Amino acid sequence: MNIMNNLQDMYIAIPKGRVMIEAIPILEEIGLIPEKSFFDNNSRILQFSTNKKNVKIIKVRSFDVATFLIYGAVQIAIIGSDVLDEFNHSEIYSPIDLNVGHCRMVVASSNEILKKENPLEWSYVRVATKYPNITKKHFEKRGVHAECIKLNGAMEIAPKMSLCRRIVDLVDTGKTLEANGLIEVEEITKVSTRIAINRTAYKTRFEEMIELINKFESINNEK
Ligand code: PRP
Repeated sequence: MNIMNNLQDMYIAIPKGRVMIEAIPILEEIGLIPEKSFFDNNSRILQFSTNKKNVKIIKVRSFDVATFLIYGAVQIAIIGSDVLDEFNHSEIYSPIDLNVGHCRMVVASSNEILKKENPLEWSYVRVATKYPNITKKHFEKRGVHAECIKLNGAMEIAPKMSLCRRIVDLVDTGKTLEANGLIEVEEITKVSTRIAINRTAYKTRFEEMIELINKFESINNEK
């Protein structure tokens, strides 16, 4: 189902936000310099040229990075392992952990809720999250059906508003949980930033792809 882009061009997708800040020095280390507007947060441009004639960058939302990759609209992406785990798609291959962007995916709730309940008796729980697939799998392991309410951000407010008993979200410093009166209940997985590629492009454009992959990999070896 790969989309046939202009075959001369190699597209790299980078998510806006947290991962993008980490991506900038990584691109620099592999000698890829995006055009100036890439660094301008006020710019509305979404596609950028680089100092390499055939390499272009697109900036999209983190979950959309995976979608562009799955359809082969981009060949390579810098992407959080949280998004990769949520999609868990066979067309995405993620060979390199960049060893940056470390955080954790956790289940959290408020003290008020935790005081009044016994999760061992549950067969059902309502959870607010951006990660319904990971969340369902996690609770299924203990025989609990998780009804996931998909929120796109700021889910730390959800338990207080009686939307759910639990949230599943990323935690870095823990400040957002604390500021909203939430407590970590358990860790689901550790998260870091990875290089991911479209499998079909890897086979059909092997030489170009392996050259870029090797460059990304060499940064890791230098660390
Ligand atoms: C992420 C995450 C938490 C917060 C955790 O949100 O979803 O809300 O960071 O960081 P902390 O533990 O250091 O406080 P982000 O800022 O990426 O925005 P979002 O709410 O749009 O997901």
